[in-house]
Amino acid sequence: MDLIHPLIETYAKEHTSTLEEVLLQIEAETHSQHPQAHMLSGAVQGLFLQMVSMMLQPKKILEIGTFTGYSALCLSKGLVNNGKLHTIELREEDAVIASNNFRRAGKEHQITLHKGNALDIIPRFTETWDLIFLDADKVNYINYYELTLPQLRTNGFMLVDNVLFHGQVLESQLKGKNAKAIDAFNKHVNADKRVEQVILSVRDGITIIRKL
Ligand SMILES: C[S@@+](CC[C@H](N)C(=O)[O-])C[C@H]1O[C@@H](n2cnc3c(N)ncnc32)[C@H](O)[C@@H]1O
Repeated sequence: MDLIHPLIETYAKEHTSTLEEVLLQIEAETHSQHPQAHMLSGAVQGLFLQMVSMMLQPKKILEIGTFTGYSALCLSKGLVNNGKLHTIELREEDAVIASNNFRRAGKEHQITLHKGNALDIIPRFTETWDLIFLDADKVNYINYYELTLPQLRTNGFMLVDNVLFHGQVLESQLKGKNAKAIDAFNKHVNADKRVEQVILSVRDGITIIRKL
């Protein structure tokens, strides 16, 4: 299901600023070389992430789900001078690509890549996060949310990708495990008095969550 009419997607992209050259290269390479290139955020969402980060000017960002490093590079744009972004990737081959991309973008001093399962890595952090971007396996979204929310500062923000899951959350009988997990996640957050949230119908749906 096309959540947004393809003509609107195209129009939005055509009237959105161009990201820096290295991000255009990473997007093109991911699309030509990676079998799961659809997972990359893309230009409109990339600029959205960059803008949010620039508005917040965070000191500490956590990303769960690095892939080829595109969204981490977008988010890193808003970091204050001595700020740091930590990103977690399970798959060795994607972590290698991301690590090379951080180096070629000259961002290796600001971005730390953690290879492994986010469920194991998150509890080891002692940081307080200003901004969290959740974009890994959907079945663990509630687990990631519960693990990271205590580490998010009051008035800190969490951005969550794919919360409309290709429109599958709208079906009367939810079928796939991912659609079920995302719907359960959306209900979980909606019932949580510790936060307020808004779902934006950008691309595959992005929730902005503020910790109260
Ligand atoms: C949708 S992609 C991330 C896309 C990326 N944020 C971007 O916008 O370009 C999800 C990534 O999460 C990773 N992932 C899946 N399960 C994970 C886990 N348990 N821990 C860490 N990373 C995981 C996948 O290997 C994949 O690279």
